[in-house]
Amino acid sequence: MKTVKTVDEVRAQVREWRKQGLSVGLVPTMGYLHEGHASLIKASVKDNDRTVVSVFVNPMQFGPTEDLESYPRDINRDAALAEDCGADIIFNPEPSEMYHKGFSSFVDMTVLTQELCGLSRPVHFRGVCTVVTKLFNIVKPDRAYFGKKDAQQLAIIKHMVDDLNMDLTIVGCPLIREEDGLAKSSRNTYLSADERKAALVLSRSLELGKEMIRNGEKSCAAVIAAMKELIEKEPLAKIDYVKIVDCDTMQQIEELDRPALAAMAVYIGKTRLIDNFFTEDI
Ligand code: PAJ
Repeated sequence: MKTVKTVDEVRAQVREWRKQGLSVGLVPTMGYLHEGHASLIKASVKDNDRTVVSVFVNPMQFGPTEDLESYPRDINRDAALAEDCGADIIFNPEPSEMYHKGFSSFVDMTVLTQELCGLSRPVHFRGVCTVVTKLFNIVKPDRAYFGKKDAQQLAIIKHMVDDLNMDLTIVGCPLIREEDGLAKSSRNTYLSADERKAALVLSRSLELGKEMIRNGEKSCAAVIAAMKELIEKEPLAKIDYVKIVDCDTMQQIEELDRPALAAMAVYIGKTRLIDNFFTEDI
């Protein structure tokens, strides 16, 4: 498996594959790969003749006070994991390769970004949409794979592809958890031992919410209140948001009368973690 650093190299490789009539899958990542990423790579390897994994910590999607500098990086480990999963190439550009001097074109999504992480991270989704569009233009994949871990991101990308007539299929993949329930994330490496234990409060509160819904609770306010109460008992946790939104519009709803997403962002110490469930998956 090759690791390439330039747009020209990926394009040349994909052109070769296309000449042979092969299909291509793309798995965009920011690296420090774990089993969540691995599940996306394996899904792509299964569906496509060739798979490109991009590893790029995208400066444009980090706010000024966020963790761009400290974001974990280990390209050798990433390359080994991607190869084990059957990937054919890693695209690992430098920021200067993706953003030339004078870069000034952006892809912005207005509606779906007004809730959840879009509110707490104002520049985030503009950075995501811009870099993902660039990756789609560079690789021109048949399919691209995104995790339900970042449920709002998945909804936004699907909407963007539809709005802008991008010629590929977006495949959403299940959220992968640690055995004790913590959603796998590259940011889990920031957690101390005590914080790691405290972080279980996210998945526990989601389990509580699921159980209430299974038992017939229809009021979003009641479910949210119970989840928040559980989280607030954990001294290391500070809630950013706990919300229930319509799956398609990402707007808050009052009644559980349609497919919905329960999503949260919670600080454990200084680390901001996200987690969620879709009501149709419970
Ligand atoms: P990153 O956080 O590295 O995630 C890359 C992909 O892996 C995303 O689609 C994300 O939803 C998925 N993923 C992460 N943890 C997962 C888990 N526990 N289970 C299932 N899937 C999981 O998301 C990004 O990078 C960036 O915003 C990116 C799309 C690459 C644009 O820069």
